[in-house]
Formats: sequence, C-alpha cells, structure tokens
Amino acid sequence: MEAGGAAPELRVLEDPAQVVADRLFALARVGGEVALSGGSTPQRAYELASQRNVDWSKLTLWFGDDRAVGPDHPDSNYRMVADAWLNYIPERRRPRVMRVEGERGWEGAADHYEGLMRDELGERPQFDYALMGLGPDGHTASLFPGQPTLQEAARFVVGVPEAGMEPWLPRVSLTLPVFNAAREVVFLVSGEAKAPAVARAFGRPPDRTAPAALVRPAHGRLQVLLDPPAARQL
Ligand code: 6PG
Repeated sequence: MEAGGAAPELRVLEDPAQVVADRLFALARVGGEVALSGGSTPQRAYELASQRNVDWSKLTLWFGDDRAVGPDHPDSNYRMVADAWLNYIPERRRPRVMRVEGERGWEGAADHYEGLMRDELGERPQFDYALMGLGPDGHTASLFPGQPTLQEAARFVVGVPEAGMEPWLPRVSLTLPVFNAAREVVFLVSGEAKAPAVARAFGRPPDRTAPAALVRPAHGRLQVLLDPPAARQL
C-alpha cells in the first residue's frame, strides 16, 4: 500500500480511451458524480461516448480543472468536452453539467466552484469517477510541480494564477484531497512524450515531486490506462 492509498493498477492497451468510454456507459446506467479531465488526450474518449445513444441524465459531470476562460474560448476544457460529446446529446438525455465559470476570472471562478461543490456535494465531496490526465512535467488537473496548491488541505477548489506549462492561462483546479476521496480515479495517458512522466508518477518508488504521484485515493480504486508508447519507460 503506497502512502495515502492503494498502488496504481497499470494497464497498457492499444486503445485506452475505449476503456474510459465503456466506463462512462456503465456509469450512465447507475448515475453518479463524475469529474472530467481536459487537455487533448481524453477527447477521443468523449468522442467515443458521443457515438452511442445513451441516457446520460442520471450523471452529473464536473471538471477536475479548467482554464479561467469563457465557455467559447478555444482553450476551454468545457468547450472541448461540449464539442466532442455534450453537443451531440439530445436535451432529454443530457447529464447535469457543472461548468467552471472561468469568465469570472481565476479567483472568482474558484470561489464559485467551491461554493457549487459544497452546495451540491456537501462538506465531504466524493466523486464516483475522476478521470485525470498527465502532463509531461508530471502535473495533473492544474496542480503543477512546486506550486502551493499541492499543500491545499481545506479547500476543494483552488485558483491557479500561473500555469506551470502551456496553455499559459490562469486555471481553476480541484485539490488533492478531493481527488483522493474519490471512489475511482483513472488516469488516461498516451504518447511517447509522456513516458518519462509516467515513470516518475507511477513507477516504483514514485517520484513525489510529480503532482500525479500524490493522487492516491485513500479508499478508492486507482487505474492508469496507457498506450504502449506512454508505458515505454516503466
Ligand atoms: C488541462 C488538463 C491537464 C491535462 C494534461 C495533459 O486542463 O490541461 O486537465 O491536466 O490532463 O495537461 O494534457 P494533454 O492530454 O493535452 O497532453
């Protein structure tokens, strides 16, 4: 048992995005609270999810992080998910979507999302499924190496005035305690460029200067879904 929770279950797959889409289909049947990741890697998983005629209305979708921009901004994670998936769902089958209102600016958006989480999920928010990505620097969500946000223990949501890598935009991110309270955390990582970060975050022993190495759900399941190039340095 690693510090803070179970060791990650590593799976190397030709099409890891399909595993995420299949899990989303299963979650749609039972309902729950899901935190989505942004960036480019999960786009395929969301596109696969959009290709089935599913009733998503039992799910509430949250964002593990977003850029502090409006919903139409090209760097908005919400826009990426909407363009890949949500916009294809008929109104009556749509999930509830709790968007980070980035147009409020990084501080206002973080405070607003914190309040939304407390109102909707209470004082001990627990996601049923948290999908996460991994940056080449070992960041996840918008928790970047060496930033004070890694020590945040009270807030569920933090503002990130300076991103640790592109896009160089202020961010809003859920915090480690929230991710580590989840019932199931899944990292979806692909491509050779991520292989060093994968080895740092999920190798043995993990390099705890990589924020992704600090995501170890206390009681939940932790899976790392990799394509072969991303797994090359394990
Ligand atoms: C974001 C993501 C971030 C992402 C990694 C990997 O807002 O950018 O939430 O944590 O998962 O940066 O991004 P790619 O999938 O684009 O490599």
